[in-house]
Amino acid sequence: MRILAVIGALAIIVAIGAAVFFFGGFYSVAGTAEDTSVVSWSLSRIRTASIDRHAQDQPPASINEPASVQAGAKAFAAQGCPTCHGGPGVSWAKFSEGLHPDPPDLKDVVNDLSPSQLFWVVKNGINMTGMPSFAQAGAKDDEIWSIVAFLKKLPSVSEADYKAWTVSAVPTAGK
Ligand code: HEC
Repeated sequence: MRILAVIGALAIIVAIGAAVFFFGGFYSVAGTAEDTSVVSWSLSRIRTASIDRHAQDQPPASINEPASVQAGAKAFAAQGCPTCHGGPGVSWAKFSEGLHPDPPDLKDVVNDLSPSQLFWVVKNGINMTGMPSFAQAGAKDDEIWSIVAFLKKLPSVSEADYKAWTVSAVPTAGK
C-alpha cells in the first residue's frame, strides 16, 4: 500500500511539474531550439512509421510516362515546391534555411520513399513541420500523382530539361 501511495504522490508531482513547465512558458517554442537526440530520433521514427502505415493509395499505370513526368515538373514549379526544397538548377529561398526541421533536398530522399509514400506526404503534409498539405491547398489527386512521377525521376533530371518543362509554369500563389 505504502509503495502505491508513493508512486501516486510522485505521479502527481511529475504532472504538476510538467504543467508548470509547459503552461508557465518555460518550454521554448523557438524554431532555433535544438531538439535532443532522443527527441529527433523519436520524431523521425514516428514520421516514418506513420507514413508507412497510412500510405495505401496505388500509383496510376501512367506513372513512368514522360508526359506525366513533365506535367509533374510543371506542377512542382507551379505549387512552389522549389521555394523550400530547390530543384534542378533552382536554389531554395533563403528563408527555408530558417525552417526547423529543414526541408530536405528531395533528390537525396526520393529513392527511399515509394510512390505511395510520396503521394501521401504531398497530399497530406507533415504535421508540425513546414511541409504543407497540397490537397488542402487545392491540388487534385491527378496533379499530385504527376508530381510523384516527377519526384521519382528527379535524381536524373537535368537542369536543361527541368527548365524546358517548367518554362510555362505559373506559380499558383495568390490565385
Ligand atoms: C514551406 C516549405 C515547404 C514547401 C513549399 C514544400 N515543402 Fe516539402 N517539406 C518541407 C519540410 C520542412 C519538410 C521536412 C519535414 C520533416 O522533416 O518531417 C518537407 C518534407 C517533404 C518530403 C518528405 C521527405 C522525407 O524524407 O520524408 C517530401 C517528399 C516533400 N516535402 C515534397 C514536397 C513537394 C513535392 C512540394 C510541393 C508540392 C513540397 N514538398 C513543398 C517544407 C516544404
